[in-house]
Amino acid sequence: MRNYLTELDLSVDETRRVLELAALLKGERAHGRYRTDLANRHVALYFEKPSVRTRVSFSVAVRELGGHVVELSGSNTKVGKGEDPRDFARVLGRYVSMLVARVFDQATLDDMAKDAGIPVINALSDARHPCQALADMQTIVERFGRIEGLRLAFVGEGNNVAASTGLLAAQLGMDVVVASPKGYGLPAEILSLADGFPGRLRQVIDVAEAVEDAHVLYTDTWISMGQEAEAAERRAVFGAYRLDQSALRRAGRDAIVMHCLPAVRDEEIATELMFGAASAIWDQAENRLHAQKALLLTLLDYL
Ligand code: CP
Ligand code: NVA
Repeated sequence: MRNYLTELDLSVDETRRVLELAALLKGERAHGRYRTDLANRHVALYFEKPSVRTRVSFSVAVRELGGHVVELSGSNTKVGKGEDPRDFARVLGRYVSMLVARVFDQATLDDMAKDAGIPVINALSDARHPCQALADMQTIVERFGRIEGLRLAFVGEGNNVAASTGLLAAQLGMDVVVASPKGYGLPAEILSLADGFPGRLRQVIDVAEAVEDAHVLYTDTWISMGQEAEAAERRAVFGAYRLDQSALRRAGRDAIVMHCLPAVRDEEIATELMFGAASAIWDQAENRLHAQKALLLTLLDYL
């Protein structure tokens, strides 16, 4: 039995196989071919925070693989507000084959995984977003034919997306530079997780230093879910941490632009970059579907 609570829960070889399977599944779907490995199985989706891409891509992934989805949320359950996440997960484990959960606190996922008896998948927490990282790697392979040896510049907060995509990219051999205002960078424990990885994960302050000659320019919102009360302060601090034409000009010649979405247009990213020739953003969003199907099939194999 395996969980996917962080992007490092699969070995490098397993991640590579997931990415290959994701590409295969994408091709099969384009020809109208679907696998049925989840027939007669149910997957629970539990969301404590809003979601479009993750919710829909997991729902569609499960259904296209022949399975069924049960949707739960923070507002129609008492998880953490009367029911212990461990008890919640233990009961779900009696009904369904996998639990996909989006939570505030990563520790809630750890608790769920302890007692679930079924695989638990992190659909985003305050600390990590491993399913996003998988789709990001699939997108980079599609565009460059490889991951190793490329340079990724992440401009913005050293948040959940920066941590998961940065770590997975570095583990697979990319050099990653995260540019954030002082006090908003990657936590030290995330940086130290990359020690010994084939790619480097570095934190800098200067946007120009990060984007120089990068193959991949990546950004995310300045105001993550749960940080809404700090919006004004964050807008003031992050003003220069945006992707625009000047960042793209500094990057490598065939650089691509990525964003996990949802984006605040013309805040962390110029609208013209979202729709410009360098944008990989829409393929990146689509790849959530294929990468998560591959993940579901991989975890199913360990059941
Ligand atoms: N990128 C992503 O996870 O989007 P949602 O919050 O809409 O699921
Ligand atoms: N950092 C963002 C990512 C959304 C997919 C958030 O946590 O809100």
